[in-house]
Amino acid sequence: MLFGRKRKVKIDENRLPRHVGIIMDGNGRWAKKRGLPRSAGHSAGAEALKKIVTEANNLGIEYVTVYAFSTENWKRPADEVKYLMSLLLDYLKNAEKNLAGDNTVIRVIGSRAELGDEIREQILKTEKLTEHNTGTVLNIALNYGGREEITRAARELCADVKDGLLDTESIDEKAVEDRLYTHGQPDVDLLIRTSGEMRLSNFMLWQVSYAEMWFTDKLWPDFKPADFRHAVNEFGHRGRRFGGI
Ligand code: IPE
Ligand code: IPE
Ligand code: MG
Repeated sequence: MLFGRKRKVKIDENRLPRHVGIIMDGNGRWAKKRGLPRSAGHSAGAEALKKIVTEANNLGIEYVTVYAFSTENWKRPADEVKYLMSLLLDYLKNAEKNLAGDNTVIRVIGSRAELGDEIREQILKTEKLTEHNTGTVLNIALNYGGREEITRAARELCADVKDGLLDTESIDEKAVEDRLYTHGQPDVDLLIRTSGEMRLSNFMLWQVSYAEMWFTDKLWPDFKPADFRHAVNEFGHRGRRFGGI
Protein backbone atom coordinates (compact mmCIF):
# COMPACT_ATOMS: atom_id res chain seq x y z
CA MET A 1 0.00 0.00 0.00
CA LEU A 2 3.05 2.24 0.05
CA PHE A 3 3.38 2.18 -3.71
CA GLY A 4 2.37 5.14 -5.79
CA ARG A 5 2.89 7.63 -2.97
CA LYS A 6 5.53 10.28 -2.90
CA ARG A 7 7.45 10.11 0.35
CA LYS A 8 10.13 12.47 1.52
CA VAL A 9 11.24 10.09 4.22
CA LYS A 10 11.69 6.51 3.15
CA ILE A 11 10.75 4.13 5.92
CA ASP A 12 12.44 0.78 6.38
CA GLU A 13 9.43 -1.49 6.79
CA ASN A 14 11.55 -4.04 8.63
CA ARG A 15 12.36 -1.57 11.37
CA LEU A 16 8.94 -0.28 12.27
CA PRO A 17 7.93 0.23 15.88
CA ARG A 18 5.10 -2.15 16.74
CA HIS A 19 3.65 0.25 19.30
CA VAL A 20 3.88 4.05 19.20
CA GLY A 21 2.80 6.16 22.19
CA ILE A 22 1.99 9.81 21.62
CA ILE A 23 1.70 12.56 24.22
CA MET A 24 -0.26 15.09 22.20
CA ASP A 25 0.77 18.31 23.92
CA GLY A 26 0.61 22.00 23.06
CA ASN A 27 -2.99 22.62 21.98
CA GLY A 28 -3.39 25.50 24.42
CA ARG A 29 -0.20 27.24 23.34
CA TRP A 30 -1.12 26.77 19.67
CA ALA A 31 -4.40 28.61 20.30
CA LYS A 32 -2.79 31.32 22.42
CA LYS A 33 -0.28 32.12 19.67
CA ARG A 34 -3.23 32.81 17.40
CA GLY A 35 -5.24 34.79 19.93
CA LEU A 36 -7.84 32.02 20.02
CA PRO A 37 -9.51 30.30 22.99
CA ARG A 38 -7.87 27.07 24.20
CA SER A 39 -10.87 25.14 22.86
CA ALA A 40 -9.83 26.08 19.30
CA GLY A 41 -6.49 24.45 19.97
CA HIS A 42 -8.19 21.27 21.13
CA SER A 43 -10.37 21.16 17.98
CA ALA A 44 -7.32 21.63 15.79
CA GLY A 45 -5.61 18.88 17.81
CA ALA A 46 -8.43 16.44 17.09
CA GLU A 47 -8.07 17.14 13.36
CA ALA A 48 -4.33 16.54 13.55
CA LEU A 49 -4.98 13.20 15.22
CA LYS A 50 -7.17 11.92 12.38
CA LYS A 51 -4.35 12.44 9.88
CA ILE A 52 -1.79 10.75 12.12
CA VAL A 53 -4.01 7.69 12.57
CA THR A 54 -4.41 7.45 8.80
CA GLU A 55 -0.64 7.64 8.42
CA ALA A 56 -0.12 4.94 11.05
CA ASN A 57 -2.47 2.70 9.09
CA ASN A 58 -0.64 3.48 5.84
CA LEU A 59 2.67 2.59 7.42
CA GLY A 60 1.30 -0.60 8.92
CA ILE A 61 1.92 0.33 12.56
CA GLU A 62 0.13 -2.22 14.73
CA TYR A 63 -0.60 -0.15 17.86
CA VAL A 64 -0.82 3.56 18.57
CA THR A 65 -1.72 4.92 22.02
CA VAL A 66 -2.60 8.58 22.27
CA TYR A 67 -2.82 10.54 25.50
CA ALA A 68 -6.12 12.40 25.26
CA PHE A 69 -7.00 13.17 28.88
CA SER A 70 -4.96 12.40 31.98
CA THR A 71 -6.17 11.63 35.50
CA GLU A 72 -4.62 15.01 36.38
CA ASN A 73 -6.43 16.99 33.66
CA TRP A 74 -9.54 17.27 35.89
CA LYS A 75 -7.62 20.12 37.56
CA ARG A 76 -8.36 22.31 34.55
CA PRO A 77 -11.20 24.83 34.48
CA ALA A 78 -14.60 23.10 34.31
CA ASP A 79 -15.46 24.59 30.90
CA GLU A 80 -12.22 23.28 29.37
CA VAL A 81 -12.84 19.80 30.80
CA LYS A 82 -16.38 19.91 29.44
CA TYR A 83 -15.13 20.95 26.01
CA LEU A 84 -12.51 18.20 25.92
CA MET A 85 -15.12 15.59 26.88
CA SER A 86 -17.52 16.78 24.17
CA LEU A 87 -14.71 16.67 21.63
CA LEU A 88 -13.83 13.12 22.64
CA LEU A 89 -17.47 12.12 22.45
CA ASP A 90 -17.64 13.51 18.89
CA TYR A 91 -14.43 11.77 17.95
CA LEU A 92 -15.82 8.42 19.12
CA LYS A 93 -19.21 9.04 17.50
CA ASN A 94 -17.69 9.93 14.16
CA ALA A 95 -14.81 7.51 14.36
CA GLU A 96 -16.08 5.33 11.57
CA LYS A 97 -16.70 8.27 9.27
CA ASN A 98 -13.50 10.13 10.19
CA LEU A 99 -11.30 7.13 9.82
CA ALA A 100 -13.12 5.82 6.75
CA GLY A 101 -11.01 3.32 4.91
CA ASP A 102 -8.51 3.20 7.73
CA ASN A 103 -9.88 0.03 9.24
CA THR A 104 -8.81 1.23 12.70
CA VAL A 105 -9.66 -0.74 15.84
CA ILE A 106 -10.56 1.75 18.58
CA ARG A 107 -10.05 0.99 22.25
CA VAL A 108 -10.30 3.34 25.17
CA ILE A 109 -7.96 2.89 28.12
CA GLY A 110 -8.25 4.55 31.50
CA SER A 111 -10.70 4.67 34.36
CA ARG A 112 -14.29 4.87 33.11
CA ALA A 113 -16.07 5.25 36.44
CA GLU A 114 -15.52 9.02 36.54
CA LEU A 115 -16.80 9.61 32.99
CA GLY A 116 -20.36 10.64 32.11
CA ASP A 117 -22.95 8.04 31.05
CA GLU A 118 -23.13 9.28 27.47
CA ILE A 119 -19.42 8.97 26.81
CA ARG A 120 -19.24 5.61 28.61
CA GLU A 121 -21.98 4.22 26.38
CA GLN A 122 -20.37 5.66 23.27
CA ILE A 123 -17.04 4.03 24.18
CA LEU A 124 -18.74 0.62 24.28
CA LYS A 125 -20.49 1.28 20.95
CA THR A 126 -17.36 2.44 19.15
CA GLU A 127 -15.25 -0.38 20.52
CA LYS A 128 -17.86 -2.91 19.41
CA LEU A 129 -18.22 -1.30 16.00
CA THR A 130 -14.50 -1.42 15.26
CA GLU A 131 -13.40 -4.58 17.06
CA HIS A 132 -13.23 -6.72 13.92
CA ASN A 133 -11.27 -4.18 11.90
CA THR A 134 -7.82 -5.25 10.85
CA GLY A 135 -5.84 -1.98 10.75
CA THR A 136 -3.97 -0.11 13.45
CA VAL A 137 -5.25 -0.54 16.99
CA LEU A 138 -5.76 2.97 18.37
CA ASN A 139 -5.81 3.10 22.17
CA ILE A 140 -7.30 6.39 23.29
CA ALA A 141 -6.03 7.12 26.81
CA LEU A 142 -8.97 8.87 28.44
CA ASN A 143 -8.96 9.58 32.16
CA TYR A 144 -5.76 7.59 32.02
CA GLY A 145 -2.90 7.68 34.52
CA GLY A 146 0.02 5.29 34.66
CA ARG A 147 -0.09 5.20 38.45
CA GLU A 148 -3.83 4.54 38.47
CA GLU A 149 -3.30 1.69 36.01
CA ILE A 150 -0.61 0.04 38.14
CA THR A 151 -2.54 0.62 41.36
CA ARG A 152 -5.58 -1.00 39.80
CA ALA A 153 -3.49 -4.01 38.76
CA ALA A 154 -2.17 -4.32 42.34
CA ARG A 155 -5.72 -4.22 43.68
CA GLU A 156 -6.80 -6.98 41.28
CA LEU A 157 -3.80 -9.12 42.22
CA CYS A 158 -4.69 -8.80 45.91
CA ALA A 159 -8.30 -9.71 45.21
CA ASP A 160 -7.21 -12.79 43.25
CA VAL A 161 -4.91 -13.89 46.07
CA LYS A 162 -7.68 -13.34 48.60
CA ASP A 163 -10.07 -15.40 46.47
CA GLY A 164 -7.53 -18.21 46.27
CA LEU A 165 -7.03 -17.82 42.50
CA LEU A 166 -3.35 -16.90 42.79
CA ASP A 167 -0.37 -17.56 45.10
CA THR A 168 1.63 -14.52 46.21
CA GLU A 169 4.81 -16.35 45.16
CA SER A 170 3.56 -16.83 41.61
CA ILE A 171 3.09 -13.10 40.97
CA ASP A 172 5.52 -12.18 38.21
CA GLU A 173 5.76 -9.39 35.64
CA LYS A 174 3.35 -11.20 33.36
CA ALA A 175 0.76 -11.32 36.15
CA VAL A 176 1.01 -7.55 36.48
CA GLU A 177 0.94 -7.01 32.70
CA ASP A 178 -2.15 -9.17 32.36
CA ARG A 179 -3.99 -6.69 34.57
CA LEU A 180 -2.98 -3.52 32.72
CA TYR A 181 -5.34 -1.79 30.30
CA THR A 182 -2.96 -2.79 27.51
CA HIS A 183 -2.88 -6.51 28.33
CA GLY A 184 -1.99 -8.59 25.31
CA GLN A 185 -0.31 -5.66 23.53
CA PRO A 186 3.43 -5.18 23.06
CA ASP A 187 5.31 -2.55 25.10
CA VAL A 188 5.66 0.93 23.66
CA ASP A 189 8.64 0.98 21.28
CA LEU A 190 8.55 4.64 20.34
CA LEU A 191 7.29 7.48 22.50
CA ILE A 192 6.59 10.83 20.84
CA ARG A 193 5.89 14.04 22.77
CA THR A 194 5.18 17.33 21.09
CA SER A 195 5.45 20.93 22.33
CA GLY A 196 9.02 20.78 23.65
CA GLU A 197 8.16 19.33 27.06
CA MET A 198 10.37 16.41 28.01
CA ARG A 199 8.45 14.53 30.65
CA LEU A 200 6.11 11.58 30.90
CA SER A 201 3.26 13.25 32.81
CA ASN A 202 2.08 9.86 34.12
CA PHE A 203 1.82 8.26 30.66
CA MET A 204 2.21 4.46 30.41
CA LEU A 205 4.79 4.20 33.17
CA TRP A 206 5.05 0.43 32.88
CA GLN A 207 4.91 0.13 29.11
CA VAL A 208 7.58 2.75 28.26
CA SER A 209 10.36 1.05 30.26
CA TYR A 210 12.46 0.51 27.13
CA ALA A 211 10.77 2.92 24.73
CA GLU A 212 12.83 5.12 22.45
CA MET A 213 11.89 8.74 23.12
CA TRP A 214 11.38 11.30 20.39
CA PHE A 215 10.65 14.94 21.19
CA THR A 216 9.73 17.84 18.97
CA ASP A 217 9.11 21.54 19.66
CA LYS A 218 6.15 21.48 17.27
CA LEU A 219 2.81 22.00 18.97
CA TRP A 220 0.38 19.12 18.55
CA PRO A 221 -2.01 20.81 16.05
CA ASP A 222 1.05 21.50 13.84
CA PHE A 223 2.24 17.89 13.97
CA LYS A 224 1.87 16.46 10.48
CA PRO A 225 2.05 12.96 8.96
CA ALA A 226 5.52 13.90 7.67
CA ASP A 227 6.63 14.53 11.27
CA PHE A 228 5.25 11.16 12.29
CA ARG A 229 7.17 9.48 9.47
CA HIS A 230 10.29 11.35 10.54
CA ALA A 231 9.99 9.97 14.08
CA VAL A 232 9.30 6.44 12.84
CA ASN A 233 12.25 6.65 10.47
CA GLU A 234 14.57 7.84 13.23
CA PHE A 235 13.38 4.99 15.42
CA GLY A 236 14.60 2.62 12.72
CA HIS A 237 18.12 3.96 13.17
CA ARG A 238 18.29 3.69 16.95
CA GLY A 239 20.36 0.92 18.52
CA ARG A 240 18.28 -0.80 21.17
CA ARG A 241 20.08 -2.94 23.72
CA PHE A 242 17.51 -3.73 26.42
CA GLY A 243 20.31 -3.96 28.96
CA GLY A 244 22.47 -6.19 26.82
CA ILE A 245 25.62 -5.24 24.91
C1 IPE B 1 -2.72 18.84 25.18
O1 IPE B 1 -2.63 20.21 25.04
C2 IPE B 1 -4.15 18.36 25.29
C3 IPE B 1 -4.54 17.94 26.64
C4 IPE B 1 -3.76 17.90 27.69
C5 IPE B 1 -5.91 17.52 26.81
P1 IPE B 1 -2.63 21.19 26.28
O2 IPE B 1 -4.04 21.61 26.56
O3 IPE B 1 -1.91 20.59 27.44
O4 IPE B 1 -1.83 22.42 25.69
P2 IPE B 1 -0.76 23.31 26.44
O5 IPE B 1 0.26 22.38 27.03
O6 IPE B 1 -1.49 24.07 27.49
O7 IPE B 1 -0.19 24.17 25.38
C1 IPE C 1 -0.24 15.47 29.25
O1 IPE C 1 -0.23 16.82 28.97
C2 IPE C 1 -1.64 14.95 29.11
C3 IPE C 1 -2.16 14.88 27.75
C4 IPE C 1 -1.51 15.16 26.67
C5 IPE C 1 -3.53 14.44 27.66
P1 IPE C 1 -0.35 17.92 30.10
O2 IPE C 1 -0.29 19.22 29.40
O3 IPE C 1 -1.53 17.66 30.94
O4 IPE C 1 0.96 17.65 30.97
P2 IPE C 1 1.77 18.61 31.92
O5 IPE C 1 0.81 19.20 32.90
O6 IPE C 1 2.38 19.67 31.05
O7 IPE C 1 2.83 17.75 32.54
MG1 MG D 1 0.02 20.61 28.06
